[in-house]
Amino acid sequence: MRVLSGIQPSGRLHIGNFFGAMLQHIQLQAEHECFYFIADFHALTANPKPADIAQYSLDVAIDYLSLGLDPKKTVFWRQSDVPEVTELTWILSCLTPMGLLQRCTSFKDKIAQGISPNHGLFAYPVLQAADILIYKSDLVPVGADQKQHIEVARDIAIRFNNVYGEIFTVPKEHILESVAVIPGINGRKMSKSYGNTIEIFEPEKSLRKKIMRIVTDSTPVEKPKDPDKCCVFALLKLVASPEESARWEKRYCSGGTGYSEAKKRLAELVIDYFKPFRQKRSELENNIDHVKKVLADGAKRAKVIATKTLEQVRQAVGLRR
Ligand code: ADP
Ligand code: TRP
Repeated sequence: MRVLSGIQPSGRLHIGNFFGAMLQHIQLQAEHECFYFIADFHALTANPKPADIAQYSLDVAIDYLSLGLDPKKTVFWRQSDVPEVTELTWILSCLTPMGLLQRCTSFKDKIAQGISPNHGLFAYPVLQAADILIYKSDLVPVGADQKQHIEVARDIAIRFNNVYGEIFTVPKEHILESVAVIPGINGRKMSKSYGNTIEIFEPEKSLRKKIMRIVTDSTPVEKPKDPDKCCVFALLKLVASPEESARWEKRYCSGGTGYSEAKKRLAELVIDYFKPFRQKRSELENNIDHVKKVLADGAKRAKVIATKTLEQVRQAVGLRR
């Protein structure tokens, strides 16, 4: 089975990215042919500073390699190193109904936040469909917020195959429903673009500070609290053992436990969880040439497949050379 996913270099990776997506990416390498890339074309939709996009791309690469992405098994590259995907995006755009994109909730959410949208943001799901289809991916492991974008990719693949013949594999999303959408420190979806993240490799001092700032309601210490409505508990469940989570759930429900006690424990658990990967990260930070080489090798391997699919598509739509 061919597995593919992308992650935007729009900031330092956070524990929402890790538990929502990266953990599955790393686990899937054991059994499948995996393709993972740094979606820098997508990140341009937010008009980042040129120096930031370059730095964040390297940071994403270092984080993935530290957390267990194995470039011997997995093809790992930077999206813009295989620009064939943008040609496919244009071809797919020409059979994508406006209405399909207008319905996308992630676009609507951004507008609701007051972002003035550019065309790239509107067309974002078409580029994502091209990413998925050009590599003929079967399975796309993502966080729950990306479900609709994978449906758009399926829809476009089916339309294309109906009009021009069976070229594309119709992909399926792979979402860990148990994880759902991980909240950030202000209670909204944790996201690099909302400034509410806890970074995977955040220095310990600022990690503790951020965790202590997580928003909670004003239930007094002695009163029972609803664990399902608490962001601290939602995060704690990700890093604690099942036994410890069950103990905290009980303590919440019976009252007598303050949120600050839960936050302190959460900080310890997050630090311990990622401790084993910090050593590898600092090694890679001191060997950027190796990281760049991994990405260049990955781009070469990805390009072979992308070029082949694009040639089939050009033939099918009548752009014969
Ligand atoms: P961000 O919103 O921080 O910019 P991306 O859009 O780059 O993150 O997402 C990368 C991957 O991480 C995607 O598969 C996405 O579904 C997942 N992801 C991002 N934020 C969360 C979250 N808060 N909870 C669960 N998964 C998430
Ligand atoms: N839109 C995805 C996100 O924000 C990133 C992405 C770009 C992606 N292309 C992709 C994910 C292709 C899966 C497959 O998380």
